[in-house]
Amino acid sequence: MHKYLISMSVVAFVTGVFATGAIAAAQFPKGDGNVASGQSIFENGKGDVPACNSCHGADGSGDDNMGTPRLSGQWFSFLLKQLEDYASDARTDNTMFVMNANAKGLSKQDRRDVATYLAQKKIDFKGSDLKAIAEGGTEVGKSNFGKSLVEFGSPELSACKSCHGYAGRGAPPVYPIIGLQRYTYLVSQLKNWRDGTRSNDPMSQMQKVAQKMSDDDIRNAAAYLTNANPYSMGNFYTPYDH
Ligand code: HEC
Ligand code: HEC
Repeated sequence: MHKYLISMSVVAFVTGVFATGAIAAAQFPKGDGNVASGQSIFENGKGDVPACNSCHGADGSGDDNMGTPRLSGQWFSFLLKQLEDYASDARTDNTMFVMNANAKGLSKQDRRDVATYLAQKKIDFKGSDLKAIAEGGTEVGKSNFGKSLVEFGSPELSACKSCHGYAGRGAPPVYPIIGLQRYTYLVSQLKNWRDGTRSNDPMSQMQKVAQKMSDDDIRNAAAYLTNANPYSMGNFYTPYDH
């Protein structure tokens, strides 16, 4: 009887571990598309859709001159949502006016494949070169002010961290990684949320935040986030590293 109880509890324990694992996997989907097909779309394009790397960079880290975002390493669920939103016109690309046509030119499966490929693509990107951007004549914010806004918020503004995590390292599946994202892209999207030209956020969460931000708040937050270190002192893993 005693032996039976022990083996029962082992079974319960093992089942418990597997059940927890299954829940974690469901909350953090890795993408079930075809990686090789996604890579081919990224590098060569498909049909009338040009190669993604021609605008998003060879490593998928984006480009400040073009205003394109980093895609590599972003959550699968978020990349796929954006591609679906462009395809249905829930989101409009008003930076280069290309992404709506690009998303529509791909099939549903293609969009899944390229999102799967990009989500698992690991790159060593330290963020935008703020010195070069300032020298090019674009105003750059103050990252120390941005850090306090992102991590602690202000009396009017909830901390970005409360949704996007420490250093903007994201919280899957809904909250995108905004740390180590391109400066130019961060600024343009925050302005789009503020004036409502981007409104594909669930429950207007981002519009409500951005409406309370001044131009300086936007530039400061972007200056901090683009070079933000996702690891805190003595902590070499984020909750999503594995
Ligand atoms: C001609 C340039 C160009 C090409 C080619 C291009 N993109 Fe884009 N992409 C952009 C621009 C510009 C934006 C920002 C648009 C905006 O402001 O909404 C963007 C945004 C995105 C976003 C939104 C990311 C985010 O963080 O919200 C995704 C996803 C994306 N592109 C995927 C792709 C994929 C996949 C391909 C290839 C099939 C591709 N792009 C090809 C210019 C391009
Ligand atoms: C209440 C939760 C919440 C808070 C607080 C919040 N965000 Fe967001 N944010 C979101 C959600 C949700 C999205 C994804 C919207 C979508 O699906 O397109 C998002 C998207 C974004 C994007 C677009 C990312 C991309 O790749 O397209 C940026 C930039 C951003 N947030 C910046 C910020 C900044 C900066 C702050 C703090 C000043 C902040 N957010 C605070 C919920 C939040």
